[in-house]
Amino acid sequence: MTPSTRGMKIGILTAGGDCPGINAAIRGVGKTAISEYGMKLIGISSGFRGLVDKEYVELEENQLSGMLTLGGTILGTSRDKPFKNDPITGVNMSKIIKKNYKEIGLDALVVIGGNGTQKTAAKLAAEGLNIIGLPKTIDNDVFGTDVTFGFDTAVSIATEAIDRLHSTANSHKRIMVIELMGHNAGWLSLYSGIAGGGDVILIPEIPYDMDIVARYLEKRAKNKKPYSIVVVAEGIAKPKGVSAASYISQSISEKTGLETRETILGYVQRGGSPTAMDRILATRYGAHAVELIAEGKFGLMVCKDGETITSVPLDQVGGKLKLVPPEHPIVKKSRKMGICFGDRMV
Ligand code: F6P
Repeated sequence: MTPSTRGMKIGILTAGGDCPGINAAIRGVGKTAISEYGMKLIGISSGFRGLVDKEYVELEENQLSGMLTLGGTILGTSRDKPFKNDPITGVNMSKIIKKNYKEIGLDALVVIGGNGTQKTAAKLAAEGLNIIGLPKTIDNDVFGTDVTFGFDTAVSIATEAIDRLHSTANSHKRIMVIELMGHNAGWLSLYSGIAGGGDVILIPEIPYDMDIVARYLEKRAKNKKPYSIVVVAEGIAKPKGVSAASYISQSISEKTGLETRETILGYVQRGGSPTAMDRILATRYGAHAVELIAEGKFGLMVCKDGETITSVPLDQVGGKLKLVPPEHPIVKKSRKMGICFGDRMV
């Protein structure tokens, strides 16, 4: 145990949409902080809202047991934006957050979140708080890290769903359209689409042409492929007020006359227990966050670079999106196997 870190108060909060692996990360932070460094872990409720309302509790080491496999976040989360005025009081929440950070006596704050949260973390760090960010989201769109925890689990869930569509699609000789989450990024659809054997994969980063999609599906039908699977990211271009799945499904049916059905997988992708890979990643991120704090290093987001867990300055990553490069190696290889991305005939 390092004497200089003994008794340090580490706050931890989770903001933005939840995902599998958050509790594993909290556990990773807590066990390392308490066992190795003699620090105290202060769990803050409901994202930045808990810092505004001073809703927090000290988490003892024994309370961290059983959390590794648990979905969601034991702390609760919210999408409150601290640098905007509080919709109820009209007060700028960041001022209250800075005041309460001091009043609670925090020495550092670990902020678990996606893009928007890392942006807020960068701003709070610039204003003098000792912040470490941990990147999480099923969307995998946080700039500055190879991968976020939550992504691997969502890919597994979505892949299983696609797997299950194959048999029913084959029985009925239908075109099955499945819409996956991902916000403005196509990582989840790309990875699950490949893993699940999707024939067409539409992602926001590759603009599609509906006529090409239709011609491709007709060609498959002519080539005695009795059914097709179309994986669609929620963020693709489409008319307002209609889901991506409905729009694509209806357009296919109108243009080809083929029978289509749609599935919107929704929040199932974000729920439940994390995969082994996400448990390991979240645990490593959590432990690394505490190592940085113990070394007095702040204003950083923990990240994965190749096989290494390291960190990047928050002000270089906060708010930036990591999108799928249209010429990503997986896209290039998939095209060679005949998978259609809606932009050219294969
Ligand atoms: O960012 C994660 C995510 O699950 C996106 O994939 C999705 O678009 C969004 O959150 C849904 O957010 P909410 O929880 O606010 O409905």
